[in-house]
Amino acid sequence: MKKIAVLTSGGDSPGMNAAVRAVVRKGIYEGVEVHGVYQGYQGLVNDNIKKLELGDVGDIIQRGGTKLYSARCPEFIEPEVRKKAIENLQKRGIDSLVVIGGDGSYRGAQRLNEEGIKTVGVPGTIDNDINGTDYTIGFDTALNTIIDAVDRIRDTATSHERTFIVEVMGRDAGDLALWAGVAGGAETILIPESHSDIKEVAERIETGMKRGKKHSIIIVAEGVMTAAQCAEELRKYINIDTRESVLGHMQRGGKPTGSDRVLASRLGAYAVELLLGDVRGHAVGIENNRLTKTSFDRVFEESHRIDEGLFKLSKELSI
Ligand code: F6P
Repeated sequence: MKKIAVLTSGGDSPGMNAAVRAVVRKGIYEGVEVHGVYQGYQGLVNDNIKKLELGDVGDIIQRGGTKLYSARCPEFIEPEVRKKAIENLQKRGIDSLVVIGGDGSYRGAQRLNEEGIKTVGVPGTIDNDINGTDYTIGFDTALNTIIDAVDRIRDTATSHERTFIVEVMGRDAGDLALWAGVAGGAETILIPESHSDIKEVAERIETGMKRGKKHSIIIVAEGVMTAAQCAEELRKYINIDTRESVLGHMQRGGKPTGSDRVLASRLGAYAVELLLGDVRGHAVGIENNRLTKTSFDRVFEESHRIDEGLFKLSKELSI
């Protein structure tokens, strides 16, 4: 009987559980034995692997986080460490692995693929920064969490006539900031993909104030600077009452949205389908609502790009 394993790695994201469930259930449906690796690559090295049954993934589709736990494992870059991981899979007769995670996790999967384990990657990260897919699992949920926070912040910003600077996650990508900024009606969105001129931001706030606007929301992606740095920079050009809000890890938790659950279910099942069809060294994704596969090499070929049209629109709508 064919045996595959599944793990979640890197920063967790809402919908990872739904993806694990899909891998396990699709695998069992196809007559495959599915093993769960606990604590990501760390668990693979430490031999923390257990066979999963249908019931093991019951009641998790709606839960945030990951039942398989996640960890960052920088040592996995060492060939000796990976050798141990490969041995742990091979001694169980497991020849294939589904890796649910971000691009750091994909690099480990790419190496394992070259070294004898067939791997397929499933994009699980709130950052939405992976090439070969329009959306990553967890992005929609994190986006909605941020929007909810921004709506609340806007209430108090209005009451106190203040400028709020909201720092959001995304690592080096600005997708969360851009989408949340557009959906939350932010006056300013600062993303790493575009040069941020704080003097210009200050001038825009000033122009708004002259027009009678008394509050303002600035969304800054963590890849640009911190909210505190942004406030300090602004103070060089304008004398206003600002407050900073760092949303932090609350952005990574919570129930996955319907979109994330469906996306995770589709991508998890597709990963199994590819492995059964002997496709390896690829990441699954969704582009124009169609399931796609992209080789790891191509995923890493280019750096992530922002939706320029949406960024332009954000500026047009926040005049
Ligand atoms: O990649 C997901 C992410 O939440 C990033 O947005 C953020 O920069 C990073 O992980 C935080 O990592 P950690 O949880 O290890 O502090």
